[in-house]
Amino acid sequence: MKPQAVEAIIPAAGRGERLNSKVPKPLVRIDSKPILAYCLEALAGNKSISRIVIAVSEENREAFNAALRKFRLLKRVSLVSGGESRQESVAHCLGELGRDTGFVLIHDAARPFLSGRLVADCLKEARISGAVVCGLPARATMKRVESGWVKETLKREDIWEIQTPQVFRKDMLLKAYAKFKNISATDDASLVERLGVKVKVIKGSYYNIKITTPEDLVFAKAIAKQADV
Ligand code: C5P
Repeated sequence: MKPQAVEAIIPAAGRGERLNSKVPKPLVRIDSKPILAYCLEALAGNKSISRIVIAVSEENREAFNAALRKFRLLKRVSLVSGGESRQESVAHCLGELGRDTGFVLIHDAARPFLSGRLVADCLKEARISGAVVCGLPARATMKRVESGWVKETLKREDIWEIQTPQVFRKDMLLKAYAKFKNISATDDASLVERLGVKVKVIKGSYYNIKITTPEDLVFAKAIAKQADV
């Protein structure tokens, strides 16, 4: 049987306020390329991904178009209008998916160093489990803190820091987004979990950092120099 088609979604419509940059965060350059170009190359390089739907803010649409043209990344890419939150932006992208799509991979534009290997690993696992996220076991001691006071020290062995990509069967993801519209979530798996679906966790990458503040750009520049990202 032919494996079901995969489409990718990149929410890239955030304001990126904590980066203090004039250009939208995904278009900030690390060395010679915008942040978005790095992860797009990894996704475009995977033959089973038929299309990449990117949510951008309407005011920046032309800037995104220009950057994608310049870096020759427009092939198999569609831009849609983002929403007020990440969740709304992803929901807008879901509305654009093709009928034959069986699986959806979601990856935050804020994580440039997505490797082709990690994309392939996530897709392989999704075809087995139906729902997969990547992540890494916590390395630091984790405490729950309220108003500046420690409430609890968590059992580190049980704590994982979750990254994107996250891949889901399309029917499952559409159901979760429709059912939990009013519950705010910072990742897609948390909505799918609410359906009672078991979500598989596979090992992500230490290079797959999320760029949030200007300090992250210091690490990003160092990572960009590594050949084996
Ligand atoms: O804000 P947060 O760090 O959770 O953003 C994660 C990703 O979601 C980023 O790539 C950002 O561009 C995207 N996002 C979006 N639409 C929003 C807010 C965030 O696409 N309204």
